[in-house]
Amino acid sequence: MGSNFSEGAIIYKKNSDFEFLFFISEKGELDIFRWDIEKEGKGHKAAEQAIGKEIGLKVEALPYFSYEKPGNNKSIPNLKVFILRAGNYEKIRIPKRYSSCEWLPYKEAIKKADQHMKALLSYAYEYIRRYEEIQKVNKEYMRLSNSKGWKLSRRFVKGEGPVNAKVMVIGQAPGENEDKMLRPFVGRSGKLLDQMLREAGLKRGKMYITSAVQFFPPKNRLPTREEIEMCKPFLTKQVSIIKPKYIITLGNVAAKTIAGVENVDRNHGIVIKKDGITYLITYHPAAALRFKRIKELMQKDLLKFSNIINSKKE
Ligand code: URA
Repeated sequence: MGSNFSEGAIIYKKNSDFEFLFFISEKGELDIFRWDIEKEGKGHKAAEQAIGKEIGLKVEALPYFSYEKPGNNKSIPNLKVFILRAGNYEKIRIPKRYSSCEWLPYKEAIKKADQHMKALLSYAYEYIRRYEEIQKVNKEYMRLSNSKGWKLSRRFVKGEGPVNAKVMVIGQAPGENEDKMLRPFVGRSGKLLDQMLREAGLKRGKMYITSAVQFFPPKNRLPTREEIEMCKPFLTKQVSIIKPKYIITLGNVAAKTIAGVENVDRNHGIVIKKDGITYLITYHPAAALRFKRIKELMQKDLLKFSNIINSKKE
């Protein structure tokens, strides 16, 4: 009896455009690499290992990508697809269930694919394109820290989350813990933010989280106007790549930098539509950690935002 769950991988490499690795079935059909699993969800790390072991290709998964297609409880299993970026390999081993494999540029693959594969491929392609663009921006952004007179930490804290997120969350600047772990919002403010998002019915893993300044200001000082301005073009680029429908700004720095809103104390909870993006203004969780009143206000704001975000159709 076949398994009720199967996983698959869109495997790509970057040349002048992207090329995709397809496996050809015994019947001669173009397919992505698939495997059956006993039960749902071992995650992308297991997929990386499976590919390495089975076909001899070193791959790296794009961590927040998600594509799931329900089966019919009988002959068609539930399918979960990962995107994997190909690294080094010597020779690709072809598992017995396939007759051969080939690398195809996107345009060619789209021509050869059936309807389902086309839909999956174009969805994945758009994700990959954004992912690679974000990597490029990150690399350029990191180089800022070589600037003369640089006073922020030199450790760059990347944004985190799906690059096609509907919601982006923008904070102020990393704290000491973020600087150590190189991840946004993982310290005390981050823990509180996670809890408040959860309580409001919002999922952190579905949002792209970053900050107006992505380097730690030593001693946790406020970033200067000049530092914020230096980082702003990179923030704007991230927004234009991710194209979120909603941006939640946390605290004064983010509200002013990205939405042009001053004084969060007076303006928290407001909703501004500008150039196709809805900006949702609230406090920074560091303020909520300090003052119970602010925590309650922020929680109310997030609940209001959650209702707005979740009431609209995708
Ligand atoms: N506070 C922020 O504004 N950003 C982070 O990444 C962490 C804490």
